Parts: sequence; C-alpha cells; structure tokens
Amino acid sequence: PHIPVLCVDGPTASGKGTLASQVAHRLGYHYLDSGALYRITGHAAVHAGLSLDVAHEHTIARMAETLPIVFHADRVLLDGVDVTDAIRTEEAGMNASKVSALPAVRTALVALQQSFRKLPGLVADGRDMGTVIFPDAPLKVYLTASAAQRAERRYKQLISKGIPATLPALRADLEARDARDSNRAVAPLKPAEDALLLDNSGQSVEESVAQVLKWWDEKQ
Ligand code: C5P
Repeated sequence: PHIPVLCVDGPTASGKGTLASQVAHRLGYHYLDSGALYRITGHAAVHAGLSLDVAHEHTIARMAETLPIVFHADRVLLDGVDVTDAIRTEEAGMNASKVSALPAVRTALVALQQSFRKLPGLVADGRDMGTVIFPDAPLKVYLTASAAQRAERRYKQLISKGIPATLPALRADLEARDARDSNRAVAPLKPAEDALLLDNSGQSVEESVAQVLKWWDEKQ
C-alpha cells in the first residue's frame, strides 16, 4: 500500500524537530527524529570507548544496525537506560555529526529509518530524508533560518533546560556542524531537487506549521 511520508530537512537548530513533530501531531501521523538515531549511535560508541572515526567505522556501523533502542512516550531507552537527556547535549550533537559522516554507519541506519513508514503516514526530519531515505516522498520541505537565529533558539532551549551555554560558542559549534554535514561525501546536507524551501527566520512555529499543512493539502 502507498504510505504517505512528508520530509523536513535542514541544518542544525533550524526548528525541524518542533515543526515536524507538530505537523505529525496535526495529521495524526507517526514521527521520525532521524537525528536521534545518529545521536544514540554516537552515544553508544563513546560509551564503548571507541574513537568516532574511520578506524572504528565498521564496529560503529554494526552497533548502529543492532541498537537496542526503545522509544517510549517522549523517552528513548538504550539497552534499558534512559538516554533522552544525555543525547541532547551539544557534545552529543557533535558526536552524532562525527559518526554520521561515516558511510557504513549511514547505510546501517537506512532500514531502521524506513521502518518508521507506517500507516496512516509519517513525518520524518533530518538531513537526508528527502534525498536518500524517502526519495519518493510527495512533500519535501527544506527548512532554513539564519545562523544567528538558530544559535539564539538553541541557546534559549539549553538555558531553559538548565544546561549552561554561551551564544558565541553555540554559533561556532553549529557552524562547524553545518560545515561537516554539508561537506561530507555521503548524503551531504542539501535540499532535494524537488524540495520546497521554507525560511522560518522571524516566523512563529504556528505559521511554519500552517504553511507546511497547506503545502500538504495541495499535494492531496
Ligand atoms: O538533527 P540533529 O541535530 O539531532 O542531528 C544530529 C546530527 O546527526 C547532525 O548534525 C547530523 O550530522 C546527523 N544527522 C544526519 N542525517 C540525518 C539526521 C542527523 O547526518 N538524517
């Protein structure tokens, strides 16, 4: 059967997660946060004492293929341990970016990501949802916002969770992560040819959600 899927790709802290999960909620669809899978893989690899580079590419890929993860309500369990907060730190994001640049790790996570495509439908967010994982998706949104805006949003997010942060460090971090994500050989961050671009600088979440739902309606 044809199972609808809607992709939201874009750079770090562009608001993909918020937008995609709200659109999923509004449509009553499943939601895939693909970045979480890379974050969990990075976390598991660091825990196993591995350096996150080609030296351990295949070991990390094998870990990714057999990740003992359970998504339960808003929590993520790795081997029974709640890692929800641990994978949200800046360091975990940087580690995710490192393992995600290893081609074997990306391949290892393809089937798992595609398995989220279930009726009545899926909203998936990440970097390559529209280009690699769900190339047949009828709607692909590429979300952007200025680096300054993204750094500021990330800053507020972290501070509200009681995680210490400074704006200049965050901005440097996200620019480094964007550069690595955009320049890697496999599945680099770039809009799919048939993606619709949405710049949400200065837009409220509700406005972005409304825009995407309108595009989705137009595709039906
Ligand atoms: O989206 P999030 O910031 O949680 O993703 C963490 C990292 O995982 C990104 O910086 C990127 O390197 C990687 N990623 C990816 N492909 C995806 C989702 C995330 O390479 N589909």
